[in-house]
Amino acid sequence: MSIGDPARVVTPVVRLAPAKLNLTLAVVGRRPDGYHALHTVMVPLDLADRLTFALDPSPGASDRLHVEGFDAGPASDNLILKAVEATRRAVRGGLSAPPPALAIRLDKRIPVAAGLAGGSSDAAAAIDGALEAWSTPDELSAAERSAVAASVGSDVPFFLAGGPALVEGRGERVTRLHGLRLAPGERPPGLLLVTPAIAAHTAAVFEAWAGGAMGPPGIAARSSEHFASEFGSGLSAGQLLERAGVLAAANDLLPAAAAVVEGLVPFRRALMRLLGRPIGLSGSGPTLWALYPSVDDADVAAAAVRAAVGTGFVRPPGDGPPFVAATTFLTDVLPTSEEATDR
Ligand code: C5P
Repeated sequence: MSIGDPARVVTPVVRLAPAKLNLTLAVVGRRPDGYHALHTVMVPLDLADRLTFALDPSPGASDRLHVEGFDAGPASDNLILKAVEATRRAVRGGLSAPPPALAIRLDKRIPVAAGLAGGSSDAAAAIDGALEAWSTPDELSAAERSAVAASVGSDVPFFLAGGPALVEGRGERVTRLHGLRLAPGERPPGLLLVTPAIAAHTAAVFEAWAGGAMGPPGIAARSSEHFASEFGSGLSAGQLLERAGVLAAANDLLPAAAAVVEGLVPFRRALMRLLGRPIGLSGSGPTLWALYPSVDDADVAAAAVRAAVGTGFVRPPGDGPPFVAATTFLTDVLPTSEEATDR
């Protein structure tokens, strides 16, 4: 197809934009540019936003975004439009004509400002979706895509990796990790997400950290380094579950998120008591998570949380009920070690 192929007007490009979970998150320093240096293991989730990209060939048209589902805030602040604009700037030099305007639709299924990086994932999907819609998928190299991604936001480059990764620097250094090794017939672990109905803006949480809302230094960093090396060569689902307690404690931003989101610590404690499992925090929060042997088990836990909130037995922070979902990881499925040696 050529740039602006009319087929893209009627057959839009579709992309899923997965949420992410931080299994570990260590803040390892402050950078000269004011950002914080991180060591974090991130995994994409089955929970995903859905985006479609169609060409808008009308004269003088500009990029448009229509959002369904969760309120994603004003379109002018949306990272999707920023990512499309940055991608257009990056490809313009190599093309004979400017890439046409896009009509974009976003089905927002990932809660906003929740520590799940839905907006950043949408932005990564928009870089890819725009290039595909313009029929210029090879116009940018992987390094150029990463540079565009990093210019849009710290969490965006991770989503170009397409799987679990160790993320360092401010978010721009992404090393792909193998993730899980599942035995034949073994199900991937389940994950319960509980997101209080209150936004935790990343900048505010980092500011609280820099203001002293931090735990003892070095503990999350050691856990994160150890886990990254284990996850790098592949863990079984059971081994991942055995590490839930260590992982749930390996987020340096927990005290800072607790300073920003009133009631987060008692809510986390109440979930620990209710579910009898370690409860972690994803990113800068306020999403809390628990690992389960399967999605079905996580579903049962989700029902228990909804019931406990509904009866007032557990009181979540925020103005309304939390978002509660059972999901799983998107991860490579590797042969187990016995299978690998059989080959
Ligand atoms: O890069 P992004 O715009 O997503 O970051 C939002 C805010 O979070 C930044 O303005 C910065 O205050 C903070 N941040 C940070 N260190 C990081 C990532 C984000 O301090 N590694």
